[in-house]
Amino acid sequence: MSLSIEPTESALGAVVKGVDMGRVPDPDIIESIETALEQYGVLIFPGQDITPAQQTAFSAALAPLEMTANIDARLDGQPEIFVVGNTGAKPVTFAPKFGNDDLEWHTDHIHRPEPARASLLYAKEIPAEGGDTLFACMYSAYDDLAAEQKAQYGSLTAIHSVAGLRNYLREQSEEEDYDPGRQADMPESVSWPLVRHHPRTGRPALYFGAKVTIGIEGWAEETGLAFIRDLSSHATRPEFVYRHVWRHHDAVLWDNRRVLHAATPFDMTRNKRLMHRTTLRETEPVH
Ligand SMILES: [Fe+2]
Repeated sequence: MSLSIEPTESALGAVVKGVDMGRVPDPDIIESIETALEQYGVLIFPGQDITPAQQTAFSAALAPLEMTANIDARLDGQPEIFVVGNTGAKPVTFAPKFGNDDLEWHTDHIHRPEPARASLLYAKEIPAEGGDTLFACMYSAYDDLAAEQKAQYGSLTAIHSVAGLRNYLREQSEEEDYDPGRQADMPESVSWPLVRHHPRTGRPALYFGAKVTIGIEGWAEETGLAFIRDLSSHATRPEFVYRHVWRHHDAVLWDNRRVLHAATPFDMTRNKRLMHRTTLRETEPVH
């Protein structure tokens, strides 16, 4: 099987053809995917027609899988699948309700001791309009910094907590006590260098989330939050962003080590959006 990889015209993203996710990939296919994932950040595999078991098997060939802490959102019979959407009794959307709300730019599981190194999202049902996923290139955002900013940021340690995510979701949810779930053995916060070097290439990338990052070590809380707000604006400028407009049966794999992502709003009263996510656990040290 030979792969065809066609880059998008954006700062990141490439369309990959010649992969059947219904089969467990050979080692040479895995290596091609890993190389392209680091290079392009986001890989789009159109027209995949896969079952939850096939998605799980394909993902598990790339890395050990992580389950969502939100037990209600695990798929019955295939708990490695995180059901993201508004079709079930308890919607999980991560999308803002209204067009002018803040987007929840983040990298998956940054608040956990073992973050997600990559995630695979598979489109089961898509809205007629909206519900896109935006991806921002953190290599580009870092490269664009001034030399003195690179020197300063390289010495900073950022603090990440599910509390930041919980506050955002609470703002977005009708249910006042909405909780994304936290496993009992998880610490309330974790800290990572703000500038992360990709384990495959050593290339530096900004590593944070707009809501889940709650401060900078050694800084006053307000100063840290203001810094994160400014950094989020810089890092998600349109020239660093690829917008994925979903089509039925798209599967999209992204590199959480060097990409932020955010869902855009859609009319949840008229549209259904249903995605199946598998989450690949980080197996390299973040530091
Ligand atoms: Fe996410």
